[in-house]
Amino acid sequence: MKSIIVAFDKNHGIGAANDLLWAHDLPADLRHFKEITTGHTIIMGRKTYESLGRPLPNRQNIVISRDLDEAPGFTIVRDLEAAYKAATSDDIYVIGGGQIYALALETVSKLYVTEVGEMFAAQVFFPEIDPAIWQEVSREHHDKDEANKYDYDFVVYNRR
Ligand SMILES: NC(=O)c1ccc[n+]([C@@H]2O[C@H](COP(=O)([O-])OP(=O)(O)OC[C@H]3O[C@@H](n4cnc5c(N)ncnc54)[C@H](OP(=O)(O)O)[C@@H]3O)[C@@H](O)[C@H]2O)c1
Repeated sequence: MKSIIVAFDKNHGIGAANDLLWAHDLPADLRHFKEITTGHTIIMGRKTYESLGRPLPNRQNIVISRDLDEAPGFTIVRDLEAAYKAATSDDIYVIGGGQIYALALETVSKLYVTEVGEMFAAQVFFPEIDPAIWQEVSREHHDKDEANKYDYDFVVYNRR
């Protein structure tokens, strides 16, 4: 199954200066991301690839770029369709960033969203989630704590 996994703030902001908005202040979200994606295929845009700086372990890492030729540990493809074709696992997760989410939204069946209960000065955003298309099927709220600086919700949507 193809899914998107994303964390966004109250304005659907996902990034700025080619980094996450909450830096290291939400380790629970990184754990959640790791649990869901480990053992499967992840697909990302070239800017997210640069932001990561290394392939994420125990996952097939695919990067979409019009120019990139070499990136050790990554499979490089030229478009989203080629990324799906190159995937070696049944479960495929599109992990961003903004450009690739916008391309992939209409192609996936499930959204794993972390709603971060704060507003940041974002430069990159996730598209609107149309309730006529997407049904919220689960929501898990967490209050901020010592390790996690902001309230957050893990939300899952299925395509109707
Ligand atoms: N909060 C989250 O969950 C989350 C997740 C991931 C990323 N982020 C953040 O999102 C930001 C990056 O997002 P972004 O939108 O700037 O970049 P991006 O989507 O990661 O990558 C954009 C690049 O992908 C390639 N690309 C895009 N459309 C393409 C197409 N149709 N065909 C072929 N290649 C295509 C191009 O690479 P070339 O220029 O090489 O051709 C383009 O420059 C960062 O701030 C990052 O931290 C947040």
